[in-house]
Amino acid sequence: MKSYSLSEDENQRLAVLLEEVKHNTELFMGYPVSKDFDYTSLLPFLKYPMNNLGDPFVPSTYAVGSRALEKEVVEFFAELFRAEKDNWWGYVTNGGSEGNLYGLYLARELHPKGMVYYSEATHYSVQKNLHLLNMENITISTQTNGEMDYEDLENTIRMNRQLPVIIMANIGTTMTEARDDIGRIKAILKKLAIKHYYIHADGALSGSYSAFLEPRPAFDFADGADSIAISGHKFMGTPMPCGVVVVKKSNRDRIARSVAYIGSMDTTISGSRNGHSPLFLWYTIKKLGMEGLKQRALHCLDTARYAEEKLHEMGIPAWRNPNSITVNFPEPAAAIRKKWQLAAESGSSHIICMPNIGKNQIDQLLQEIRESQFELTT
Ligand SMILES: Cc1ncc(COP(=O)(O)O)c(C=O)c1O
Repeated sequence: MKSYSLSEDENQRLAVLLEEVKHNTELFMGYPVSKDFDYTSLLPFLKYPMNNLGDPFVPSTYAVGSRALEKEVVEFFAELFRAEKDNWWGYVTNGGSEGNLYGLYLARELHPKGMVYYSEATHYSVQKNLHLLNMENITISTQTNGEMDYEDLENTIRMNRQLPVIIMANIGTTMTEARDDIGRIKAILKKLAIKHYYIHADGALSGSYSAFLEPRPAFDFADGADSIAISGHKFMGTPMPCGVVVVKKSNRDRIARSVAYIGSMDTTISGSRNGHSPLFLWYTIKKLGMEGLKQRALHCLDTARYAEEKLHEMGIPAWRNPNSITVNFPEPAAAIRKKWQLAAESGSSHIICMPNIGKNQIDQLLQEIRESQFELTT
């Protein structure tokens, strides 16, 4: 067969794109994505069409994949999230949004007439998921730190107490990294004598490291969650978006159905599933272990503390939720936001102190903010 290749011009375009990606990766501080990884030893796997079709726990006729490692990744998170022994199941998703969709899907299958409650600080993808699943829902107001307003939650559930309750709890909101307290939510359900309920925890960023914190936030299975989703590319760090969803096995069994074509169970959202992404998560889990991951979290917290303090020294009213790595402050000049890729909403912006961000980078950003303030006053 004739061999084909790219033209010089096309190769040049790739080279230019690579430089652009490198440059933009160095500078961003506003999105919760780790970039401190080196997966060079996994490069040989890119030669193969790895696909973990179907259920990771049920072998498939399609055998080019990483199911065994995917199962270990899920097991790692099930233990980290204190799932009940022998009653957990999950898979590596395409990202946190898919994990949240999965949690809501299970909740709907268990409680078809359920009402979903989620705070106004919830990630935008959740509303889309609710629309896709055609689930009735009510938005709950938030406190100023972005955490759910529990009084509003209680009053709203009371008005609809004939309906099963489905809660989408944020374990770290997108803008301020506020954690909804699953312990408090459970107490409200008990007070209102709600018998049928389901709690999904959206731990996109903070879910991966909250288990290492003291005091440990109320966010996992032992605290009352029925399912938890995280994004893999956030705290853990992977070159492509991915995530993990962990649910109770007994709930998953209710939706499982066997499919002859794949020789596996159809228990996941998509058919073909990325067989490479479990490799990256597995690699990081094995390389860092619990101790390494804990140190990673502590490093992020230390950087966040530093950034908050330095902003205060400059007279900028920065703030953080307890034990969080997101430092909130008034939106800086547009040129600075663009350069450092800082997201903003309603006049507020943030730095997310991911593991790769060092104090020198914080200093550099703050210097630019200082200069822009000086320009404004002169
Ligand atoms: C709180 C929260 N939930 C869900 C998501 C969606 O996760 P992903 O981008 O991995 O789909 C995000 C993304 O930033 C998020 O911040």
